[in-house]
Amino acid sequence: MNKLELPANSTMLNKDFVYGVATASFQIEGGIDDRLACIWDTFCATEGKIADSSNGAIACNHYEKWQDDIKLIDSLGVDAYRLSISWPRVMNQDGSANQQGLDFYIAILDALIARNIKPFVTLYHWDLPQHLEDNGGWLNRDTAYKFQEYVELVTKAFGDRVHSYATLNEPFCSAYLGYEVGIHAPGKVGKEFGKKAAHHLLLAHGLGMQVLQKNSPNTMNGIVLNFTPCYPETSADQAAANYADDYFNQWYIKPILDKAYPTIIDDLPKSQQPEVFDGDFEIISQPLDFLGINFYTRAIYTSHDEEIFEQLPPPAPITDIGWEIYPSSFTKLLTDLNSRYQLPPIYITENGAAMADTFVDGQVNDLDRLNYYQQHLVAVNNAIEQGVNVQGYFAWSLMDNFEWAEGYLKRFGIVHVDYDTQQRTIKQSGLAYRDLILSRP
Ligand code: FCB
Repeated sequence: MNKLELPANSTMLNKDFVYGVATASFQIEGGIDDRLACIWDTFCATEGKIADSSNGAIACNHYEKWQDDIKLIDSLGVDAYRLSISWPRVMNQDGSANQQGLDFYIAILDALIARNIKPFVTLYHWDLPQHLEDNGGWLNRDTAYKFQEYVELVTKAFGDRVHSYATLNEPFCSAYLGYEVGIHAPGKVGKEFGKKAAHHLLLAHGLGMQVLQKNSPNTMNGIVLNFTPCYPETSADQAAANYADDYFNQWYIKPILDKAYPTIIDDLPKSQQPEVFDGDFEIISQPLDFLGINFYTRAIYTSHDEEIFEQLPPPAPITDIGWEIYPSSFTKLLTDLNSRYQLPPIYITENGAAMADTFVDGQVNDLDRLNYYQQHLVAVNNAIEQGVNVQGYFAWSLMDNFEWAEGYLKRFGIVHVDYDTQQRTIKQSGLAYRDLILSRP
């Protein structure tokens, strides 16, 4: 099959279901001379951290090519574009505005609005200003208050241009990958760091939400969380899988919706527990207008004596980045969350696949990626049929880009990028996505 299809009665074929594409500042922009350094600049400059020793200096050169890129986005027929703001581009070290940086984003927002494309803005997609990391980064509670000042500055500057604000993208990745296992910036390693960083990120989210409610009450405000559903290898491993689920997934949603960490917090040694001040959960649990969910894969766990759980290597089929393709876990994730929590409306803010694309005769015939999208769109539709209120879906990503620790080796785009010429070519998956969107009656 070379097209994307949904059942004729699917609510995902309604005109008001939002389809979009997503990117993030550090992954596409380049243009590093006009902003402060961020933790990913430093991390990329550290030997051995990035698979191809690359960095974000040029990336997709979106900083210069943004006007063409917005035309490209428009040509895909999407209703919305999810982008992130680079904190070190818009705020100087003394907290004052970098007007040139703000103007860059304001021009993008205006161009999107002129084309009737809804801007979904993520305020923090991992590019923490390096000077804040030098003061402890997310291990320093004060960084949450610095984030609040940044949200204040951005919301005032952007006015009513934004359709939706998300405070953070995937605090799990910032906290666990960045401060516990060190495979993301800033590369800190230690079990005593992860949950502390997570708590300050969640606090930043709550403080940011307060500013959004005050300065931007008419936008749809929320947060983007990632989930990797945890499956047991055998029924004897159910407790291990549940523990991993609490540690990696529920840890980030439960404080926001239920004002508490999962009860496994009591099993953690004191040194690994976050420092929770009185009133923190009240701040963290600001009402959400929406919850953004990013989904790529599931994980399988077995029991482990010391570590409680151990992740097994993913079985086939896997994508080029090694993630198992298991679409039914997407439906299950959504229905499980829906029965567990009082959820606000859901937007799938990222879903997609890295594939080993080939560029032949000016085309990328990525039927493997197209098939991934087909299966996962149906998985979302199945969840909607089971009562989950999903109102939108964003493909990750608009175009191939800097895939963090993997550098430019893994391609997630529905648009191909030739990094030598910066030429963009819509892949078969992108054409099929466009056709699905335009086919809506
Ligand atoms: C998510 C990130 C996004 C991208 C995809 C593949 O964790 O939010 O920036 O790298 O994974």
